[in-house]
Amino acid sequence: MKLLKTLVLGAALAALSVPAAQARTVKVGVVMTFSGVNAEYGEQITRAMELYLKLHGKELGGNKIELIKRDSKNPGGAVAKTEVQELITRDKVDMLAGFVFSPNAIASAQLATQAKVPMIIMNAGTAWITTLSPYIVRTSFSMWHAAYPMGGYAAKSLGCKTAAVGYTDYPPGKDSLEAFTKGFEGAGGKVVDQIPMGSPAQVPDFTPFLQRVKDKKPDCFYVFVPAGVHAASLVKTYSDLGLRDAGIKLIGPLDIIQDTKLQSMGDAAVGMVTMGHYAADYDNPANRAFVKAWHEAYGADSTPDFMAVAGWDGTAAIVHVVKTLHGKIDADKAMKALEGWKFDSPRGPIMIDPKTRDIVQDEHLQKVVKKGDRLAVEVIDTVPAVKDPCKELKVGKCAQ
Ligand code: PHB
Repeated sequence: MKLLKTLVLGAALAALSVPAAQARTVKVGVVMTFSGVNAEYGEQITRAMELYLKLHGKELGGNKIELIKRDSKNPGGAVAKTEVQELITRDKVDMLAGFVFSPNAIASAQLATQAKVPMIIMNAGTAWITTLSPYIVRTSFSMWHAAYPMGGYAAKSLGCKTAAVGYTDYPPGKDSLEAFTKGFEGAGGKVVDQIPMGSPAQVPDFTPFLQRVKDKKPDCFYVFVPAGVHAASLVKTYSDLGLRDAGIKLIGPLDIIQDTKLQSMGDAAVGMVTMGHYAADYDNPANRAFVKAWHEAYGADSTPDFMAVAGWDGTAAIVHVVKTLHGKIDADKAMKALEGWKFDSPRGPIMIDPKTRDIVQDEHLQKVVKKGDRLAVEVIDTVPAVKDPCKELKVGKCAQ
């Protein structure tokens, strides 16, 4: 009887793992910014990817995932495209992942189509990126996810009759302007100024842009600038120029209160209202486990942010594909495996919309508050299961 039990158990275990001879290594080309002022983006996402693989690698049943990292250096698109080309032709990667800046994803999308390589976008937020290749899946967000509902809240519950919109002048910034304006004016507000505020490649001096806002005296100032050094500098200038004292509310997507920068923003950030899908403070079991594992791996002083969560969830998506296809990656089968894929993310429940291959997630109206000597993010209200409004409303290039 004991022998029979041992044999049955042995057979069950053998069925779960792949014999060494058949074990496959799935190569994932990871293209992100690893140098320069935005090197932190690449670090956040790869740390999350590596942590996920460390904790969940055994689910691959003997198969392996190898991450091959390449530095896209800047938001220009050209370097990223060359890296992707080399990853496909020389390294023969099975999948692509990463893509922080939209122009880098936009420049690379056609290569994914031509080579039939699944491309998992872990940040780039321009809404229509997912329409550029049938092999793109996004685990981050569309700029419309936050900006469109925020427009409605601003007009209806944040006391904004008028608003100025400031944006970094490239695709996700233009998307943010369009999405906020549609939500805000649709709910009765009036956008009184639209201010392009430099390029994503360098942090501009925000003083002239914010002085223009101060002179215009709108009730609210909706801003999209890339997270990190742009956002930290913007919040500082907002405070230094006295816009808050002038009664102009600073609102925006979660990028402007990135967890890694929030504490250093100090009291200037208190009272800021943003719309977003993640903060390290979110109190749910998946996030508590994620933040704990992060601290154990990277130290108590390190905090994950929304980019890390997109990397974590994107890696869960890759693991799901590798498991489903037993390590033999075929782009069409990978897309089928991800259609409608659901995951218990640290941000809350997520799904890949089978129609658009974009993420479906809750969006939270949230406020920065002071708790003791630290800044905290407090959720005020939630819009559940938001599908990219740009595609839902069929706006411009999203209407495909
Ligand atoms: C983008 O380029 O799409 C992008 C970059 C930084 C962000 C958000 C979006 O914080």
